[in-house]
Amino acid sequence: MAEFIAFEQRPSIEPALHHPKRVSMNNSKKKLFVKTYGCQMNVYDSDRMTDVLATHGFEVTDALADADMVILNTCHIREKAAEKVYSELGRLRTLKQRRRAEKSDMVIAVGGCVAQAEGKEVLRRAPFVDIVFGPQTYHRLPEMLARHQRENESAILNTEFPVKPKFDYLPKPTSSGPTAFLSVQEGCNKFCNFCVVPYTRGAEYSRPAIDILAEARLLVGRGVREITLIGQNVNAYHGAGVNTHREWGLAQLIRALGDFGGLNRIRYTTSHPKDMDDELIAAHREVAALMPLLHLPVQSGADRILAAMGRGHSRDTYRRLVDRLRDAQPKLAFSSDFIVGYPGETDEDFDNTMSLIEEIEFAHAFSFKYSARPGTPAATMDQQVPEPVKKARLSALQSLLMQQQHSFNTTCIGQSMAVLLTNRGRHRGQLVGRTSYLQPVHVEAPDALLGGLVAAHIVDSQPNSLSGELVGRSFATSDTKMTSPR
Ligand code: SAH
Ligand code: SF4
Ligand code: F3S
Repeated sequence: MAEFIAFEQRPSIEPALHHPKRVSMNNSKKKLFVKTYGCQMNVYDSDRMTDVLATHGFEVTDALADADMVILNTCHIREKAAEKVYSELGRLRTLKQRRRAEKSDMVIAVGGCVAQAEGKEVLRRAPFVDIVFGPQTYHRLPEMLARHQRENESAILNTEFPVKPKFDYLPKPTSSGPTAFLSVQEGCNKFCNFCVVPYTRGAEYSRPAIDILAEARLLVGRGVREITLIGQNVNAYHGAGVNTHREWGLAQLIRALGDFGGLNRIRYTTSHPKDMDDELIAAHREVAALMPLLHLPVQSGADRILAAMGRGHSRDTYRRLVDRLRDAQPKLAFSSDFIVGYPGETDEDFDNTMSLIEEIEFAHAFSFKYSARPGTPAATMDQQVPEPVKKARLSALQSLLMQQQHSFNTTCIGQSMAVLLTNRGRHRGQLVGRTSYLQPVHVEAPDALLGGLVAAHIVDSQPNSLSGELVGRSFATSDTKMTSPR
């Protein structure tokens, strides 16, 4: 077992951002490589870690071998996700040894949900790791780094849940591009029986609306056209309101953002069916910039399984919720998450999931085999489903979902759709963007249009993307003028 210093056992120190000189590196920029696993929260966090370390002399590199510091921002949601981290660490060990032989160093840090869930285990299995930190402590990275350098060979472990949220200490975001994630809410109090998130991210916390709007203003001022509000339970958002003693819900935040000039698209993810309130449903009808794709995980279509999962909703409540949302906004399309092979899931339960999918018709979905996670109630339940059964169910489910996705994409052919051009395509002269339904679209277009919202006539569809032709050469002014497939 490596020697390590438990950060939380040390006398409390103010975050290093208040003492930049104390931990500042030398003048030449150090190179930082960040690899991100898992969900949108980790994508956001990785960007913010980069922002924090940029204020302490680091710049991002894409070349792993050149990095002075490597951060793996990890995911613990399924066993496979967690194990990937250890195989990556095996590779990093060799690189670190090489650097040591050259009399330099590569600092290896493991952050995110694996770090939070099994911090000491990371140091046991990979004793060459220098810093292990959780999702709520990365604002203190410069201080951890400085301490690691002072204490020489000792590893640093910092997986506490600080009372004051990290958001109070983070520098302003610096990421650029036409789209951005904006974290509004963290953590989860729902404790679904299969899920590690409440343990790795901690209890629910909602940022004050005023901070969120300030961050959004900054992003829009920098040219961001699309903001996705993110949170593990984003529609459970209830933050301190602006100019009121009352808390704001997610719908109020969305309405406030809807009044921003220059912000064309608003999305939010991930929602829980139980927290979908009337105001949020109404926002889908009334806020023009709110995009018509809603990710609403259902997990299963069988009431027995939903109850065993502790989801707090039934098949019927989910169905009725979808109907209400469709009544409020007929253009709305749905995306979801599914778990197959939950302990005790019978063929009949699985058939119920398949029939729910047939009834609702999803535009997109993610689906997974149940993975037993240590410390969660479902991991020790009787009647674990054998692997071959899970495999067969996942394959049947994914083929139905893929069929639905393809047929949704096919309904777009012949439509004129707004496309936010986000990247260069693989071929010269080609750009790739996203429709309001998040479908990737390839179009022939000049680089000058990159970052812009254009109108495209959809000429072809594949299961995972669309092909389009620019309608004229002008920017579209909004999504709402475009027709939609449903
Ligand atoms: N907060 C979101 C989702 C969080 S995790 C929600 O409440 O729906 C993302 C997805 O991973 C989940 O929706 C679920 O489908 C899947 N997932 C979570 N734990 C899992 C496990 N133990 N095995 C397989 N899939 C899991
Ligand atoms: Fe996990 Fe359930 Fe919380 Fe979603 S609502 S993060 S599935 S515990
Ligand atoms: Fe994974 Fe943590 Fe997100 S477990 S899914 S990175 S909240």
